[in-house]
Amino acid sequence: MCGIVGAVSNRNIVPILVEGLKRLEYRGYDSCGVAVHQGGELRRARSTARVAQLDASVAKDGIEAGTGIAHTRWATHGAPAEHNAHPHFSANRIALVHNGIIENHDELRAELLAKGYNFTSQTDTEVIAHLVNHLYDGDLFDAVQRATLRLKGAYAIAVFCRDEPQRVVGAREGSPLILGLGKEENFLASDAMALAGVTDQIVYLEEGDVVDLQIGKTWVSARQDDGRYRPVQREPRTVVAHSGAAELGPYRHYMQKEIFEQPRAIADTLEGVLGITPELFGDGAYKVFKEVDQVLILACGTSYYSGSTAKYWLEAIAGIPTNVEIASEYRYRTSVPNPRTLVVTISQSGETADTLAALKHARSLGMKHTLTICNVGTSAMVRECALAYITRAGVEVGVASTKAFSTQLVGLFMLTLALAQVRGRLDEEREAEYLKSLRHLPVAVQAVLALEPQIIAWSEDFARKENALFLGRGLHYPIALEGALKLKEISYIHAEAYPAGELKHGPLALVTAEMPVVTIAPNDALVDKLKSNMQEVRARGGELFVFADADTRIESEPGVRVIRMPEHYGVLSPILHVVPLQLLAYHTACARGTDVDKPRNLAKSVTVE
Ligand code: M6R
Repeated sequence: MCGIVGAVSNRNIVPILVEGLKRLEYRGYDSCGVAVHQGGELRRARSTARVAQLDASVAKDGIEAGTGIAHTRWATHGAPAEHNAHPHFSANRIALVHNGIIENHDELRAELLAKGYNFTSQTDTEVIAHLVNHLYDGDLFDAVQRATLRLKGAYAIAVFCRDEPQRVVGAREGSPLILGLGKEENFLASDAMALAGVTDQIVYLEEGDVVDLQIGKTWVSARQDDGRYRPVQREPRTVVAHSGAAELGPYRHYMQKEIFEQPRAIADTLEGVLGITPELFGDGAYKVFKEVDQVLILACGTSYYSGSTAKYWLEAIAGIPTNVEIASEYRYRTSVPNPRTLVVTISQSGETADTLAALKHARSLGMKHTLTICNVGTSAMVRECALAYITRAGVEVGVASTKAFSTQLVGLFMLTLALAQVRGRLDEEREAEYLKSLRHLPVAVQAVLALEPQIIAWSEDFARKENALFLGRGLHYPIALEGALKLKEISYIHAEAYPAGELKHGPLALVTAEMPVVTIAPNDALVDKLKSNMQEVRARGGELFVFADADTRIESEPGVRVIRMPEHYGVLSPILHVVPLQLLAYHTACARGTDVDKPRNLAKSVTVE
């Protein structure tokens, strides 16, 4: 989603701004721009093309300066067009970029129109630029503080002013913003990754902070409950930010690379796990795990499906009642809080606005025990939760989440075992067996990846379809949901997933010879029931594409195509069965020629509501 970079220095910072945008590109954007203070004027370049094009036009136009801001935009208000791209100017005096959504922009727009401001975009952001300009009285820091008091919604902003050449001001509420401290130069960014190689001294700004950056000095003010701002000290941390995506190597897309990285990602996530203990989740976890009698999982998208899979484990193995809620729903519904709940958020990015808001909502209801399974150790989610397990998937660039999902499942399985242990439901023998299975996973996933050529053959047929059904039962129903999500998000084929037993309660009406039905068939207690559901599909002419464990005795025949999974994997089987579904979605999307790593309308980190 949107990205911000800003800088104040005595050297030309345009290359740093553009490089920062490049590092944030993978998050998804539809336009980009940069503005600088040059020769006493505001100058800018904006583009609806890639950052590389912006870089070329900046060089061509000779844009260079020591003070500037830059942005990648993912459209919310106003189409992806150059006039809506950031930075926005007001009165050729204020330049501003913004991540987030201003909910009262209509009201502010009307007020500013009445004061004579002209609007050149449809964005909510331009409203902030004019508001800051309107409140400006020679001190940008003061104007931004006063402007933020009028804003409702979520924002991270970076602003500079023509009349104060070596100053950039930032503010945040509901969207991440960090301050990077350099030698006689300072930086702002929405993610530390944007500043990799520039500085490792990072201050994570808190909700309600406004920050003033000048050459060699910075100040932070925090908004108080009475609406006034007071100076605060925010300590820098040394953050070794990864410098973004690694090279593609032999792969065509990051998604393919990330699917193939799963054996390594799982091994890394398990590294150092010598045995199951609550302390894997942080100090004090034993006491918390002893106290809780319920789990509430909050997440969105793919992370919600890993949580849905974990519910089966948590109830069956740890014997703890578990609810899984879509964060954007939970945050707004009236629910019955239980203070003895362990609230578990799951997030690849750790910055998903809905999940963060749902976490806050749960806390506001008196549920204080919080834990996150997250892939970014420095993210807001990890900072906000008392306990954490950091998965080690590494940077995930493809919008379609793959290695983050399988490593989340690994983290959630260990959480299940730790809770089971504390609740007296895990003896040493079973712990040793589970650990053995976990440690063998990288090899087992590698064997599944070897099925790629067979899956490519199927994908050629899939590419011609416009609809698909995915079926699973029990533990594998969330895997069917995840397979359908992968297919729709990158190939744009309409896909739905059902627990196979639900077919005859409605979706069977959709089944014709034109409907491919992907079936996940592990050799578990439900396999015979699943076979009956497959017969229901065949009887209506539906074409089955089955991923079957070797010992299920499901054979290929006319209308039934079978790919054999190399190993039956018991309760950890979802981690293997999701892999062919990722590959099927990936190769179908390739065959349809879509933009696999940056599918239309989607962003990697969903930092707005
Ligand atoms: O970063 P998060 O795990 O919190 O993101 C949640 C969803 O936005 C994300 O999983 C999304 O559904 C993916 N594009 C799915 O592939």
